[in-house]
Amino acid sequence: MPTLDLTFDEVLSTTRAVRKRLDLTRPVEREVLKECLRLAQQAPTGSYAQNWHFVLVTDGEKRQRLAELWRSGADAYLAKRRGDGEGQVGRIMSAVDHLYEHLHEVPVHVIPCVTGRTDGAPGALQAGRWGSIYPAAWSFMLAARSRGLGTVLTTFHLMHEREAAELLGIPYDDVMQAALIPTAYTIGTDFKAGRRAPLETMVHWDSW
Ligand SMILES: Cc1cc2nc3c(=O)[nH]c(=O)nc-3n(C[C@H](O)[C@H](O)[C@H](O)COP(=O)(O)O)c2cc1C
Repeated sequence: MPTLDLTFDEVLSTTRAVRKRLDLTRPVEREVLKECLRLAQQAPTGSYAQNWHFVLVTDGEKRQRLAELWRSGADAYLAKRRGDGEGQVGRIMSAVDHLYEHLHEVPVHVIPCVTGRTDGAPGALQAGRWGSIYPAAWSFMLAARSRGLGTVLTTFHLMHEREAAELLGIPYDDVMQAALIPTAYTIGTDFKAGRRAPLETMVHWDSW
């Protein structure tokens, strides 16, 4: 059952990338995670079967190792951007740095996976496969938000996907990991809508 009294539109507009306000001290009940996953199962997929798997990592040593892989993947990206930052970019970088330091302490790492590798496949096939898992991942994040949990969709660890697969026993040749979603209760539950460019800058009616 949702624990926050939010409307559907409020959930959609306030499900933020939560990094600094993840409560690292409060355990997350398995039952609440299963509720979120049952809702995620209602998302669309591009195949007749729901070709998803969700690996939930709570074991401390495994989270430690995943965090090392994540940091290693993040380093290349962050090297270019650290110190970039004023304004919104600076705020995001400071939040990413915080997660970088604390990822192993986040109580649950959720890894949505999809069956069937598409490495090097044409764009249309890639779109169908990634598009079969990301709606479910986002539904999980929305359901989590409405229950007082915070999440952030991350992809840094995928630079070392094979090592993560070995660590977690995921059959790499058949299954792609799509993300790593750190999940925890939030510190406070009040989140605002994010700043976005005016709609007119990205909407095209009938032609570009
Ligand atoms: C496909 C995708 C990959 C992402 N990868 C990462 C990541 O590896 N690390 C990270 O800290 N955030 C990652 N993010 C989160 C974005 O940085 C986040 O959505 C952005 O900061 C906007 O946050 P907001 O919606 O709360 O404004 C990713 C988001 C998406 C959609």
